[in-house]
Amino acid sequence: MSTEPTTTGTLATDPVVDAEHAEAYRSAEDYHAAIAAIRSAAAAYYNGTELAMDDAAYDALLARVAATEAAHPDWQQPDSPTSTVAAGVGRGGDVEHSTPMLSLDNVFDPAELRAWAARLARTLGRSVDGYTVEPKIDGMAIAARYVDGHLMQVATRGDGRTGEDVTLQARRVAGLPVQLTEPVTVEIRGEVFMTDADFTRANELRVAHGGQPFANPRNAAAGTLRAQDRAYEAPLSFFAYAAHGLPGAAAQRHSDAMAAIARLGVATTGQSAAGLRRCASAEEVVAFVGLLGDGRGGLGFAVDGVVVKADEAADQADAGSSSRAPRWAIAYKFPADTRTTRLAGIEVQVGRTGVITPVAVLDPVQVGGVVVTSATLHNFDDLVRRDVRVGDTVFVRRAGEVIPEITGAKLDERPADAQPFTPPVPCPRCGGDIDRSQKRWRCTRGRACGAAEALHYFAARDSMDIEGLGDKIVNALVSQGLVTDPADLYDLEQVTLARLERMGATSAGKLVANIAGSRSQPLSRVLTGLGVRMTGRSMSRRLARHFGTMQALCAATVEQLQNVEGVGPERAAVIAAELAELAPVIARLAERGVGIMTEPGTPAAGDSGADTAAVTPPLRGPDGPLTVVVTGSVPGLTRTEGNEAVETLGGKSSGSVSTRTDLVVIGPGAGSKAQKAEELGLRTMPAETFAQLLAAYTAGDQAAIDTLLK
Ligand code: IVH
Repeated sequence: MSTEPTTTGTLATDPVVDAEHAEAYRSAEDYHAAIAAIRSAAAAYYNGTELAMDDAAYDALLARVAATEAAHPDWQQPDSPTSTVAAGVGRGGDVEHSTPMLSLDNVFDPAELRAWAARLARTLGRSVDGYTVEPKIDGMAIAARYVDGHLMQVATRGDGRTGEDVTLQARRVAGLPVQLTEPVTVEIRGEVFMTDADFTRANELRVAHGGQPFANPRNAAAGTLRAQDRAYEAPLSFFAYAAHGLPGAAAQRHSDAMAAIARLGVATTGQSAAGLRRCASAEEVVAFVGLLGDGRGGLGFAVDGVVVKADEAADQADAGSSSRAPRWAIAYKFPADTRTTRLAGIEVQVGRTGVITPVAVLDPVQVGGVVVTSATLHNFDDLVRRDVRVGDTVFVRRAGEVIPEITGAKLDERPADAQPFTPPVPCPRCGGDIDRSQKRWRCTRGRACGAAEALHYFAARDSMDIEGLGDKIVNALVSQGLVTDPADLYDLEQVTLARLERMGATSAGKLVANIAGSRSQPLSRVLTGLGVRMTGRSMSRRLARHFGTMQALCAATVEQLQNVEGVGPERAAVIAAELAELAPVIARLAERGVGIMTEPGTPAAGDSGADTAAVTPPLRGPDGPLTVVVTGSVPGLTRTEGNEAVETLGGKSSGSVSTRTDLVVIGPGAGSKAQKAEELGLRTMPAETFAQLLAAYTAGDQAAIDTLLK
C-alpha cells in the first residue's frame, strides 16, 4: 500500500490510512460532511462519551477522506483529520502535554505491515534494529507525571496538546502507583481501561444505582475516569506503553524502558497477558501478530489490535513523526469486533428446557469477519434496563466467544416512534406461567413446555415419518404425561395407546409397529427429527453423510464441524452446543435402537457390504459430487426423498439453480428453476429418468444406468 497525500506529507509514509482501496468523495460537500462526522466521532471517542462510531466505520470514513485528498488536493482542509493530532476533536483541558500525544497510523493485513516495515527501513537508510510488538489496549490514553517517585499529575489525552486533569480519579487506578519504588522523575504514558470482568461488575454497580449500563468497556473506562463524583466505585486498570525522560541506559530501547518502569512498580503492556515481544525481523513481527490475534479473545481485556514499534531510540529519533503520528510505530488493527447495525426485531425464544430468552434479529453485519444476523440480549431484566428498542442502531460485539451480543444502543439515532420492549407475560409457547425468580426466565413447565412441538417435528414426514402419529395423538400423549421426549415413544405399548380417545386396538397396534419401524430410518432423518437449531433437512443430510454415525457427529469438535460444507463458526458452535444439550435424549434413543445405524453411502458404511458396490454412483463426477437441483415432482418420491436420492446417487442436492449447477432434474410442476436451467444452458434430466436411475442404481444394474445416462 502506498498512500501519498499530495499536500500534507513530508514523507510518503504519512498518513497511513487505507486510501488506496477507498473511494474518493465526488463533491467537496460530502468531503466536508465526512470530516465533520469524523470530528464528532473522534470527540466522542476521546472524551469517552457513549456515542462513539464503531472503529471500522471510523477507519472507512478516514480512508475515504484521505482518498479524496489524494484525488483533489485543492479541497484539503488545513486541519484535516488525516494530517493533524486530532486537532479540535478531543476536549482539550488545562494540562499542557510535555510533547503532543500523537495518534498511530493503521495497517490491516500482513502485506501492509511488511510495506510499513520496508518504508521505515527506506526512511532510515538502514535496516531497522529490532521491533517490539505489544497489545493495543482499547481504553483511554493518559499521561502521568512522577516527580521524585511521587505521582503528581495525570491528564487525559484531550486534543493531543492539552488534556483534562484527572489526577484525583487516577490515584485509584490499578497499575498506576501513587508512589514509585525509586525517587525517579519521569512521565509515563499509557492506557486506562477496564478488564472484561470489571466491566461486568461496573455495569452491575451502575445499574444498581439507577444508571444505564455502559455500552462497552472503553466507554466504561473513560466515563469512570472522567466522572467527578461517583456514588460507587468501579475498578480501573492501567498499562503503560511509553516513558519519557527515563535516565540512563533504559532510555536506549523501548523494551528496556518498559522493563525499567515495570521495576518501578508501573504495570506495562509487557506485563499484560499478551506481553511485549522483541522481534528481530518484520517476518517475526508478522508471526507474533498472528499469535496475538488468535488469542485476543482470551486476554480478559479489550484490544483492538497490536502496536509495532522500532525498538531502538536511535531508530525512533531518526524516523521522527508527522504532525499526526510517529513513523516508527504502527497499529495493526484486528478486524473490528464491535460494529453497529439496525435492530430489526426482538424474538422471544423458548429453549428445549423451557428457558425463555430475548434474541435480537439484526440487519446482517460483519463482526470480526463473520456475518451476524442475530445476537443474544442475555435476559429480560438486562434488556429492559438497557432500553434497547426495535429500530435502534445497536452495538454488536464478538469478543472471543462465538455468539455475538448487543452491548447497547445509540440513543441519538433512535427513531422517534421506537417503542420500549414489553417482555412476555405468559410463556409464548405453551401459555403457561413464567418463573421470573432467576435472571434466566423459565416456563414453569420446564422441558414439558416444548415436548409436543418437539414430538410433532420428530414424527413428521420429512423426519422419522411415523404414520399414524398425528398432532392430536401427540398432544394427548404429552398432556397425559405418557411421553416427554422422542425416546419415550419407543416404550409405548399397544394397551396404553389403545386407551387413548378414538384409538382402537388395531390402530394402536399399527402405531406401535410404525414407531418400531422408524428405528431403521437413516441418521440424517433422526437428526432432522431432533430439530438441532441452525440445521434443516439438507444440513442434517450433509452432517450425516460427513460423519457417518451419530457417535462420530457427537464427538466432533467445533472445528471439525466446520469441515462440513455450509457450516461456519457460528453455526458450528450452535450445532455443538445443541448436540451436547441433546446428548441425554440421543443416548436414550440409542438404547432403543434409534440413530445407531451408519448413514448409507458414507465411507463409514463400508461400501463392500452394499449391493451397489460394483456400480459407480452416477451423480459423482471426476471432481466429486455433481451439484443437482430437483424441481417439480419425482414419481414415487416426496420432495425430501428426491433430495435424498440425489445424495444416494453420489450427487449433492441444492435448492437453487446457478452456473455452478451440474444437473437439473425436471418433473411435473416445475417452474422458474426449469426456465432458468434452460436460459443458462444447463444439463437437464426428466424426473422419470431420474427415478429410473435411482431404481437401476439400487438394483446395481450398471448397464441400465449407462443407458439412462446416454
Ligand atoms: S504508542 C507516539 N502503544 O492507541 C505513540 N499506543 O490509536 C503513542 N494505544 O493514542 C502510541 N495501546 O492511546 C501505543 N501499546 C500501545 C497502545 C497505544 C493503545 C493507544 C494510544 C494511541 C492510540 C492510537
